[in-house]
Amino acid sequence: MHATLATLELRKVQKSFPSVRALKDVSLAAYPGRVHALLGENGAGKSTLIKVASGALQPDGGEILLNGAPVRLTPRTAKSAGIRVLHQERQIALTRSVAENVLLDRPTRGRFGLVTAGGLARAAGERLARVGADLDPHAPAWTLTVAQMQLLELARAVSDDATCIIMDEPTASLHRAEIERLFTVVRQVRDSGIAVVYISHHLDEVMELADDYTVLRDGSEVASGLVSEVTTARLVSHMFGDEVSLRREDVHEGGTRPGDVVIELDRASFGGAVRSVSLAARRGEVLAVTGAVGCGSREVAHLMSGAIKPTSGTVRILGSGRGSRRAAARAGVGFLPADRKREGLLLDRSIVDNALLAENGITRRPLFHPLSATRRAADACRRLAVKLSDVRSPIRGLSGGNQQKVILARWLRVGSEVLILDEPTAGVDIPSKSEIYRLIRQHAVEGRAVVLFSTEYQEIRCVADRVLVMRDGRIAGEIEGENATEHRIFEMELGA
Ligand SMILES: Nc1ncnc2c1ncn2[C@@H]1O[C@H](COP(=O)(O)OP(=O)(O)OP(=O)(O)O)[C@@H](O)[C@H]1O
Ligand SMILES: [Mg+2]
Repeated sequence: MHATLATLELRKVQKSFPSVRALKDVSLAAYPGRVHALLGENGAGKSTLIKVASGALQPDGGEILLNGAPVRLTPRTAKSAGIRVLHQERQIALTRSVAENVLLDRPTRGRFGLVTAGGLARAAGERLARVGADLDPHAPAWTLTVAQMQLLELARAVSDDATCIIMDEPTASLHRAEIERLFTVVRQVRDSGIAVVYISHHLDEVMELADDYTVLRDGSEVASGLVSEVTTARLVSHMFGDEVSLRREDVHEGGTRPGDVVIELDRASFGGAVRSVSLAARRGEVLAVTGAVGCGSREVAHLMSGAIKPTSGTVRILGSGRGSRRAAARAGVGFLPADRKREGLLLDRSIVDNALLAENGITRRPLFHPLSATRRAADACRRLAVKLSDVRSPIRGLSGGNQQKVILARWLRVGSEVLILDEPTAGVDIPSKSEIYRLIRQHAVEGRAVVLFSTEYQEIRCVADRVLVMRDGRIAGEIEGENATEHRIFEMELGA
């Protein structure tokens, strides 16, 4: 099929963890100048395969070839062969500068001794410019947004000596406009003859970007071929075994009657980001808030959760007039932050601890029966089909999408009066999304309020009763959920 040699080839790779066979005879070949999509549901084995391909994990069996020659990969040999990985877990030294992070994998000494700070900044600046990232090389990394961190990692990967760039869900926490920019970079990288392996749960991205595909299911390779010869529907059935759809009709069961207001913003401002925003979320409804990058919706989410205080105006929870984080928690405000790595997870603690974290915090019961906790956590995870072998094991051993589901299970269990969700399904596969949408609806139908901050048109359309579109820190308009087509939302974002 291909005249050229594969830059990186995996042949019948196997890998087991103590409790699971994560890879069973999986093969994949990445060719220069082509994008290879790696697909599969949460826990299918995608990230594990990537770790094997980058020398981070040693396979139990199978072969790895670089330009046709068998090798034993270690992180060091993979790096010197030009294999670069953007892992699903962010790899950024938060206290270091942007420049230091971009050049993390480069020797710290230049040809004539130590590299100067200015030289470092210049070299990093060039790399950042290449991916269209307008970042200050001197800024500490912790000041960046999630999207900026993603670009930083991309800038690091796109070095001169890269031969194969592997991206594990690079768009999971990116905004629509940022995704477009990423695509442009991926195409440039591809056109320069680099092999790209691309993991995503968004099949539209795959259809747009990829040349070849491989589908994993339960650690086995179930399909592969040319993207030009497959349909989205076919890929979906390879991934999940049957039809799955994300439609409003499947999620909305009859209408709900909105009740009292449980949380409201009254002419609330936050610096220049949020300008005199008034909005109210009522019981029984899912209110979606959306908008383009920098529209202020993220700040509104943080105002509502009590994480930040308005510089003027008020945030009222259940009419309490107080908006501190503690008041919010006491009043039963649940908050699922967009950046789960930074705010939402205790990676070394068990799945039980992570699933019940909110509950423990709120009921303030320092001691509770471990057996019943285990049972409750297992129950919560079952509802969201979290793929796991033992709830008492560390959450670190779960796949990325399954970690996200555990955090969500945490908040859905608590039954908070108001649930604030910021990009709740980032990195989650399609069947789990549809289950999550049903649970979100149910939460509202049972008489609670849900405020959904999302930039995914399809998600908004499936779940929301009302949609507020923000622009330049203000509410640009409101759309009824059933009329919230991609087109309408987009028009409003642009101010058309
Ligand atoms: N360090 C580990 N210890 C134990 N089990 C692990 C470890 N890493 C992965 N697994 C298990 O291996 C299987 C495959 O996980 P992997 O992270 O490769 O999935 P994935 O396809 O990347 O999923 P996602 O879309 O959710 O990111 C899962 O059952 C997972 O729980
Ligand atoms: Mg993964």
